[in-house]
Amino acid sequence: MRIAIAASEGAPYIKSGGLGDVMEALPSALQRIDGNEVALFLPYYGKIRNNPAIKTELVKAFYVSLSWRQQYAGILRLTDRADGVQVYFIDNLYYFGGRDGAIYGHGDDSERFAFFSKACLDAMVALNFKPDVIQCNDWQTALIPTFLSAYYAPLFPGTKCMFTIHNIEYQGWADMGFFDDTLALPQEYRSILDMNGAVNMMKGAIETAHLVTTVSESYAKELMYPYFAHGLDGVIAKAGWKLTGITNGIDTNTFNPETDPALPAHYHKKAFRRGKAQCKAALQEEVGLPKKADTPLLVMVTRLVGHKGLDLLCYAIENLLARNDFQLLILGTGDQKFEDFFRHLADKYPDRVAAKITFNLGLASRIYAGGDIYLMPSKSEPCGLSQMNAMRYGTVPVVHATGGLRDTVPGVDENGEGGLGFTFQSYNGDDFRQAVESCLRLYHEKPEAFKALIAKDMSEDFSWNQPAQKYMALFAQMCNN
Ligand code: GLC
Repeated sequence: MRIAIAASEGAPYIKSGGLGDVMEALPSALQRIDGNEVALFLPYYGKIRNNPAIKTELVKAFYVSLSWRQQYAGILRLTDRADGVQVYFIDNLYYFGGRDGAIYGHGDDSERFAFFSKACLDAMVALNFKPDVIQCNDWQTALIPTFLSAYYAPLFPGTKCMFTIHNIEYQGWADMGFFDDTLALPQEYRSILDMNGAVNMMKGAIETAHLVTTVSESYAKELMYPYFAHGLDGVIAKAGWKLTGITNGIDTNTFNPETDPALPAHYHKKAFRRGKAQCKAALQEEVGLPKKADTPLLVMVTRLVGHKGLDLLCYAIENLLARNDFQLLILGTGDQKFEDFFRHLADKYPDRVAAKITFNLGLASRIYAGGDIYLMPSKSEPCGLSQMNAMRYGTVPVVHATGGLRDTVPGVDENGEGGLGFTFQSYNGDDFRQAVESCLRLYHEKPEAFKALIAKDMSEDFSWNQPAQKYMALFAQMCNN
């Protein structure tokens, strides 16, 4: 099957969050399936242009029309991708070059990604790459199914389009003037994109895509409810017949405690005690916590934003510290109020709390490896990847049973049996505290059961093999209709 994938980020070239990880592993997993030919389209951001390790060649150049605008698009092909995926970067200096290095958050983001979405389709035409399916991701590429339906269908007869929601919170809003002045779509698309008198690109995609997916089975169900859908519950309900949840995997080659070059020691599921203890001691030293082998180290690698459940941690932490013996280590950046809270907490408890307010992939790996318990109390979580990274590195998760956390971390009982981690059901600081304390109790009082749980977590298959097969089944379903 010929598969075109379009996204606003993809590791290892450019990544700001989980979408970047998925766009590293999913194309590769699909390409590994016999008979598939995968092309990945990404914007050519300044950060990519300025990275000498990314080698490209110019293969096509043309102009993209956006209403009265004619904007240059250069198609740069990556020359040294080992797994067979064809990677194409869309170059336009004005939209993606210079700026201040930030990939999102510019005043004209709507226009930038409208350009990108159209340029992807024009690139497929120019390259004579006629896909069986186009898979696109989040609001930044949400105009692809709409443009496909409005303009490109005659050029690509039979091409089907899947739209994948990684996070429904970001929908791609613009004022109605954008519809005429930038998109200039035929009038019948006005009502498709219109939401409360403004343009909502994600709504358009949900309506025009042949199939819609999201990144876990539970989140697909949750999206039917206003609490999770951020205003799109009605739109989702109407599209319910074409919505499926496929739970993400992780890149088990990149995230591998046997080989990860960022780690001071390596280990595997059958023999982890020594290696993991070395990683813990080195981590405690690296972040300035006392080296205590028997004090449980609670860790979090997260964006410091509300939906990650930090308010529960802020609420419960002093109480937890007063009642239990543990250390806490947090890595991440985000909202000022949370950054300040954790800096202050680390100042107040220098021997028990460390806060690294920064973005550091190497340290993130060392935390997955050196931690004992991984906290992820997210308010909502479409899938979440770091809980899987943590389990792969033998760090036991404590999670709020929502979205992908519910699907990837079935709850254990007080003996650490029957699941993969500790869970709490309602979004509540005291229930969270209780789940953390149950986990601490297992650590202190039943160390062999805790070790057995580690071994179980490390043995779970979080690879992309199964999810990739599920994508294939949906692709086949689209193409046979
Ligand atoms: C978004 C979601 C996260 C998901 C990721 C990859 O970042 O918030 O839950 O794991 O996309 O699909």
